[in-house]
Amino acid sequence: MVVILNIFLDALGIFTHGTNHPMKPFRVRMTHNLVMNYGLCKKMEIFRPKPSTIDELTQFHTDDYINFLGKVTPSNMETCIKDCTRFNVGDDCPAFDGLLEYCRRATGGSLEGAARLNHGLCDIAVNWAGGLHHAKKQEASGFCYVNDIVVAILELLRYHKRVLYIDIDIHHGDGVEEAFYTTDRVMTLSFHNFGEYFPGTGDIHDIGIGKGKYYSVNFPLREGVDDKTYKSVFEPVVSHVVEWYNPSVIVLQCGADSLSGDRLGCFNLSSKGHADCVRFVKKFNIPMLVLGGGGYTIRNVSRAWAYETGIIIGQEIGPGLPSNNSDNGYFGPEYTLDVHPSNMENKNTREYLEKIMITIFENLDRSRHAPSVQIQGSVHSLIIIT
Ligand SMILES: *[C@@H]1O[C@H](CO)[C@@H](O)[C@H](O)[C@H]1NC(C)=O
Ligand SMILES: *[C@@H]1O[C@H](CO)[C@@H](O)[C@H](O)[C@H]1NC(C)=O
Ligand SMILES: *[C@@H]1O[C@H](CO)[C@@H](O)[C@H](O)[C@H]1NC(C)=O
Ligand SMILES: [Zn+2]
Repeated sequence: MVVILNIFLDALGIFTHGTNHPMKPFRVRMTHNLVMNYGLCKKMEIFRPKPSTIDELTQFHTDDYINFLGKVTPSNMETCIKDCTRFNVGDDCPAFDGLLEYCRRATGGSLEGAARLNHGLCDIAVNWAGGLHHAKKQEASGFCYVNDIVVAILELLRYHKRVLYIDIDIHHGDGVEEAFYTTDRVMTLSFHNFGEYFPGTGDIHDIGIGKGKYYSVNFPLREGVDDKTYKSVFEPVVSHVVEWYNPSVIVLQCGADSLSGDRLGCFNLSSKGHADCVRFVKKFNIPMLVLGGGGYTIRNVSRAWAYETGIIIGQEIGPGLPSNNSDNGYFGPEYTLDVHPSNMENKNTREYLEKIMITIFENLDRSRHAPSVQIQGSVHSLIIIT
C-alpha cells in the first residue's frame, strides 16, 4: 500500500517566498493536480497530515531558532537584523507571511510518512512538499528553513536500526549529512554537482567522523550529466551501499533541479532518467519515504514528480497530459509530460567517474557490514551539530 501525503491543498497562493524568488511552493499543487487528474489517486491513499508541532521541530532545531521563525515577518525584519543575520534569514531565505506555518506543514507530511512507515501502515510514503535538505540546526540555508528530512529520520530511528538516505537533488544534501555525520545509524549518500556551486560541500573525501566514519558518502559530479552517465554511477553505487549497509528503511530525496533546463541547475537529465532512480530504489522492496526538494523550472518539476508518483504505484503515465487538467496551459509549447534533455556539454569523463566510484567502494569496504546497535530510549543524543 502506498500513502501519498500532500499538504498544500489549501495553500494555493498563500505561501510565497516572493515573486522573483525561484522557490515556488505552487509546484507541489501542480504536481498534485496532475496526479489526481491522471486518476492515480485510485491506487493510493491520499492523506492530509497535521502540521508538525513546535516540539517536533525542536527535536532537531533549537528553540531559539524556531521561536524566531514564528516571529519574523517581512515588515519586522529590519527591527531584528541581528537575529536575521544569526539565523541567516534574508536574501535567499526571506521572511514571508506564514513562514512557520509553511515549515510546519512541509515537515508534518514527512513526519507523518515516517510514522506510518514505522507502524507498517504503508510500504511507501510520499511528500513532494518535503525534502528541504539544506536547513541546519539553527540556520536557514538554500531556501530551506526547517529540515523535515532530519526530523523524519529521527522518527524512523525510533523503530529502525539503520536508515539509508539517498539524495538526487543537484545540490549536496549538506543539512542531512551534517546532522548524522557522527553516527553509523544513518548512512547518507548524495549525488550532486560539485565545484564552485552551492553549498560548496560534498567532497569525495567527506566521509563522516567518529562512529560515523565511512557512513557519509558523496558522489561529486561535474556539469552536464546525462541519463546514461547518471545511471552508470547511481545503480552500482546504490546497489553496493544497500547490500553492504542493509538498511531497513530508505529515505529518497528527489530534488528535481537535477533535470535538464532547470532555472538553477546544470545537469542534462530527462524526466525518464531522473525517474529511473526512483524505479531502481523501489526495486529493493525496502520501505521508503520519498520526498521532493529543489526544482525551479516548475512545469518540469511537476511533470517529473507526477511521473514518479506513477512509477511508485506501478502505473506508467503520459506522454499525453490528462485532458481534464486545468493547469495544462502551463505545459506549453509541448503539452506533454516528458522533460527532454538539452544541449549541454557533459563534463564528466569515464575516467573521472570511475576514480570516484573506486574511492567510494574502497571506503565502503572499510566500514562495518550492517552495523548493529541497541535501540535506546532517546535518539537525540546521537546528533552532534557543529
Ligand atoms: C479527471 O479525470 C480523472 C480520471 O478519470 C479523475 O479521477 C479526476 O477526478 C478528474 N478530474 C477532474 C478535475 O474532473
Ligand atoms: C524544461 O524547462 C526549460 C525551461 O523552460 C525548457 O527549456 C526545457 O525544454 C524544459 N524541458 C522540457 C519541456 O522537456
Ligand atoms: C544530453 O543528453 C542527451 C541524451 O540523454 C544527449 O543526446 C545529448 O547529446 C546530451 N547533450 C550533450 C551536449 O551532451
Ligand atoms: Zn537543489
